[in-house]
Amino acid sequence: MNIPNHLAVFGATSEIAWETCKHFAEQGAHLYLCARKEDDLQRLADDLLTRGARSVAFCPFDATEEKSIDLACSKILNEFPRCDGLYIAHGFLPPNEDNAIDLNIYRTTMQINYFSVVQILEKFIPHFIKLKYGKIAVISSVAGERGKKRNAAYSAAKAALTTFLSGLRQKTKNTNIQVITLKPGTVITPMTANLPQNFLFTRAEKAGRLIYDSFKKKNENVYIPGFWRYIMLITRIIPEKIFKHLNL
Ligand SMILES: NC(=O)c1ccc[n+]([C@@H]2O[C@H](COP(=O)([O-])OP(=O)(O)OC[C@H]3O[C@@H](n4cnc5c(N)ncnc54)[C@H](OP(=O)(O)O)[C@@H]3O)[C@@H](O)[C@H]2O)c1
Repeated sequence: MNIPNHLAVFGATSEIAWETCKHFAEQGAHLYLCARKEDDLQRLADDLLTRGARSVAFCPFDATEEKSIDLACSKILNEFPRCDGLYIAHGFLPPNEDNAIDLNIYRTTMQINYFSVVQILEKFIPHFIKLKYGKIAVISSVAGERGKKRNAAYSAAKAALTTFLSGLRQKTKNTNIQVITLKPGTVITPMTANLPQNFLFTRAEKAGRLIYDSFKKKNENVYIPGFWRYIMLITRIIPEKIFKHLNL
């Protein structure tokens, strides 16, 4: 399977996505970017064109609004018919889950990290089936592998996303569509700016390059960086009665 040459990117202004897109630009790819803020998209498009992207189009979308997601998907599929790759990177980490539960924030967390992604995938799958080819990479998280008190809602949304992608992989197994679940550990980006950093944090630049590399490979469950596979292997087997006492 080749690396996509016509890539649609949702959440293109995320630090990690931007770093990934730089590599696609250097490869001379055609890019279609989607994110919330139009002026950020313009800046990103200009930057990627100077780096070598063959063409860069963009359209705004808001992951909290079904209609906006629908419009963006339809626009891309109309204007970018040779789209052979989809990269979904937007996400939302709710602030301080240690405080009282705010159901509205929990719903938004689920909407942005899970429902909006499912909606985009459901729109793109028929296109890739028709094209008889497609590479899909979605950023989930290691957080989706075990719930923790400080980000239980975020973890639950990412767990739902990882599970959905696993089902989608099974559903598309007889097609030429590859579904890659990306599971970053902690990455230095605006999303984690308020968290205390430690030696496990990775630079966004490195995460972006590793994600670009994963588009070239066959592995469909990719930890970013790879050492998180071993951390999560251990984390997953800790019995719940011990895990609940850990201050992670
Ligand atoms: N950083 C980490 O440690 C880490 C670890 C594991 C997984 N991840 C995942 O990696 C992905 C990229 O995050 P990042 O770390 O690069 O953080 P980031 O730079 O803060 O990016 C988050 C992106 O999500 C977008 N977004 C948020 N709400 C949105 C909405 N309602 N509609 C459309 N877009 C919206 C943001 O757009 P605006 O700029 O318009 O707000 C921004 O582009 C996310 O899926 C995140 O969950 C991150």
